Amino acid sequence: MESMKKYLIKGGKPLRGEVKVSGAKNAALPAISATLLAKGTYRLKNVPRVRDVFVMLSILEYLGAKWEFEKDILKIDTSGIFKTEVPYELAHQMRASILFLGALAGGMGEGRVPMPGGCAIGKRPVDFHLKGLSLLGAEVILDHGDLVIKAPKLKGATLILDFPSVTTTENLLMASVVSEGETVIKNAAREPEVVFLGEMLKKMGAEIKGLGEDTIYIKGKKRLKSVEIEIIPDRIEAGTFMVIPGLFEEGEIIVKNIPVHYLETPIQKLVEIGLKIEKVDKETLKIKRVGALKSTKIFTSPFPGFPTDLQPQFAVLLTQAEGISIITENLFENRFLYVFELNRMGADIKVENRTAIIRGPTSLEGSPVKATDLRAGAALVLAGLCAKNTTTIYNVELIERGYENLIDKLKNLGAEITLESKK
Ligand code: UD1
Repeated sequence: MESMKKYLIKGGKPLRGEVKVSGAKNAALPAISATLLAKGTYRLKNVPRVRDVFVMLSILEYLGAKWEFEKDILKIDTSGIFKTEVPYELAHQMRASILFLGALAGGMGEGRVPMPGGCAIGKRPVDFHLKGLSLLGAEVILDHGDLVIKAPKLKGATLILDFPSVTTTENLLMASVVSEGETVIKNAAREPEVVFLGEMLKKMGAEIKGLGEDTIYIKGKKRLKSVEIEIIPDRIEAGTFMVIPGLFEEGEIIVKNIPVHYLETPIQKLVEIGLKIEKVDKETLKIKRVGALKSTKIFTSPFPGFPTDLQPQFAVLLTQAEGISIITENLFENRFLYVFELNRMGADIKVENRTAIIRGPTSLEGSPVKATDLRAGAALVLAGLCAKNTTTIYNVELIERGYENLIDKLKNLGAEITLESKK
């Protein structure tokens, strides 16, 4: 179905001012699912109010939990959980619903989770998840499109991942903290959101060593307890805002609440491209453009490499840089769909397999375009801010999956952006 909501952006006007980064969606989602591991009341601070979070909460509610926002605290009460089947209507909206597989196995000993379908950025299979959970002693079968997991007794094991997959590592952490004995996860993901989940589980009573390294050691516990925890800032949202000054001659903005340590690689790229970055305080940076931008090469890879979730936004920046830039996407096979939209706006980008070749600088011209996924949508917003005249972005529901208050934040910086929704 065609989307009803669209953004209209009158571009070309430099943005100025300050913007504050919200909590990380990709940390909030595993944290919400982890509340199944110990029945009780949880208080999560700094949870972004974005669509994916609300879908995750709707699933929890369906299973029997209660939740409410009290100012900036999300209270979740899982003491009344009685169901273990995740409904397709909710699960299909979000691939991260696969996190319920590990959480239900660990917390309830069983679960039924719809097998995620493909999505616009690629096939995204779940074989690593299934292999790891099976090695911990769970039985998983596919029944009518659902993954049915039975895990009455999980037992620690050595798990060697084929690839340091983020949600696989998260699922295996959630299952292994309640497994009997010791688990070792090798070739584990090192993403800050994985470390965050591990820290939450430690607070809940788990024994975990090696978070943020490629081997994680877990000693299983019989019982965990509910906790209070603050979600880390969203490094992808931060990186998206940090690109903005580069889109304008003499552009300059201040970004607050930046998780600087999680963004070393993208920050280094911004410097290479020619932006000036000044530290205002520990978590606040002033980003400025002085003069022409330089082309560069970007390879996406697992943390601490350049994040695939910032690749489309940086591509927009590189349309403004002098010379030829090359982006190689190593994680998802279909993550260049936005390129065709950018080219309609006047960009000069060629895609060859996993590589995009960007020739710049090109001046962008407003046009109707369509978001193909969350980060592609964010890239089109950036392109719209930079382009002459009006850009209309369709399918913005995809952008709302992961950016909290994007319109207000951009308006505060002086952008002319409006949301139109047809009834
Ligand atoms: C997470 C993030 C997503 C980000 C991605 C990569 C969440 C909720 N989502 O997604 O925003 O873009 O990390 O940083 O945190 N793979 C398999 N089999 C599996 C699992 C993964 O082949 O069972 C492959 C994938 O197709 C992909 C690679 O492994 O090529 C890495 O994907 P993965 O780290 O699992 O991404 P997600 O956890 O889905």
